[in-house]
Amino acid sequence: MGETWTPRTWRGKPAQQMPVYADEAALAAAEKNLATWPPLVFAGEARNLKADLARVARGEAFLLQGGDCAESFAEFHANNIRDTFKVLLQMAVVLTYGASCPVVKVGRMAGQFAKPRSAPTETVDGVELPSYRGDIINAMGFDAPSREPDPQRMLQAYTQSSATLNLLRAFAMGGFADLHQVHRWNLDFVREELGERYRDMADRLSEALEFIAACGLTSETTPQLRETSFYTSHEALLLPWEEALTRVDSLTGEWYDCSAHMLWIGDRTRDPDEAHVEFLRGVGNPLGLKCGPSLTTDHLKRLLWQLNPGNEPGRLTLICRVGAGNVAAHLPRLIETVQAEGAEVVWSCDPMHGNTVKAAGGLKTRPFGSILSEVQEFFAVHRGHGTWAGGVHFEMTGQNVTECTGGASAVTEAGLQDRYHTHCDPRLNASQALELAFLIGEQLKEERNGRAATAIAAE
Ligand code: PEP
Ligand code: CO
Repeated sequence: MGETWTPRTWRGKPAQQMPVYADEAALAAAEKNLATWPPLVFAGEARNLKADLARVARGEAFLLQGGDCAESFAEFHANNIRDTFKVLLQMAVVLTYGASCPVVKVGRMAGQFAKPRSAPTETVDGVELPSYRGDIINAMGFDAPSREPDPQRMLQAYTQSSATLNLLRAFAMGGFADLHQVHRWNLDFVREELGERYRDMADRLSEALEFIAACGLTSETTPQLRETSFYTSHEALLLPWEEALTRVDSLTGEWYDCSAHMLWIGDRTRDPDEAHVEFLRGVGNPLGLKCGPSLTTDHLKRLLWQLNPGNEPGRLTLICRVGAGNVAAHLPRLIETVQAEGAEVVWSCDPMHGNTVKAAGGLKTRPFGSILSEVQEFFAVHRGHGTWAGGVHFEMTGQNVTECTGGASAVTEAGLQDRYHTHCDPRLNASQALELAFLIGEQLKEERNGRAATAIAAE
């Protein structure tokens, strides 16, 4: 590559997973409109996230990325935003406290609308219609008008993203995320024994806060106790929307995709010769790259340098999603390629997308045991290679849904239909997410101790 990049050069390349808008003039009008609206994030914030991720790349922090598979217009409500934020805060504090490790928090929120699909159409009872591609493109209802891509939906997605981001910023900066509120982040329906385990940890944390208050460090004196950094991310799939929100940063003169702090490339759209890679290589944001079993060594090599030509730490996060039982077969090859190239990356594990199965009743689900196994295998392979298992990527919600089976909340296949609300893939509920955080906290602690021991031995 190396050819001149503009926010439009992706248009000259093949693009997978793109909707076909029947009314091109309406699409152009919506894009034009969007391009005049304010950016959702500021480039400086994306740079701050890149600096935080550089700490993860160096093994000094851990990345927690999570949220909806697909945000929806119907579920747009302050309580949903608050509850997902609460669970992410809980998970982060469990990891920070349990493993004495700073946690970089990134939501799949405020823009995670567009979905790649395994087939362009869906057939029900002999009727074939375009697949549902997320609320930013079309609607879920199985009828022709619902499934028609509508460019006006991009404008509604902008409005929802900006209101979501506004609330998240208010929560992060306005006192809700103050560590002294740690008890209040617990949700009523979290399973008894988990809730207790969390309360127990929160009690110990409160004692520590009382101690440091006596030493003079309070919320008034110490912003680190009062506020938190919270970033947004989504899959950069719908390129007309991403292009319209891409702006030149007035401070550096560089292009940033101001639809979110971090953007990732999905497993189906990461061809080095195609449009999604072309678009993302030119924006300054931190990027994620989903790495599924079909990622070849050759493609990975090319992508490392296309997406991060300056080898900047924090710029590129490799999000591995190969499925439980498959990590040892794929991850060593990826790690060895990255090492041979001398590339700087953050290693993260998405234990959701390689573990989707169909339950007996026909609903898509993910067994808690497989999710946990993939994370454990990920940690084990990194331990074997002396590399830092830097983060996790979850589809989760703060609601009490029944979409993934198992865990302490013991959701069964038969019980899936009780509260199955997802617009796309099955998400962890609040109890399952918290349970995973405790289990990962233990792994992370071992990893930290292992690294500290290696460092001492090397002295
Ligand atoms: C996703 O993260 O929602 C997704 C579709 O993932 P992947 O591209 O890894 O399949
Ligand atoms: Co998904």
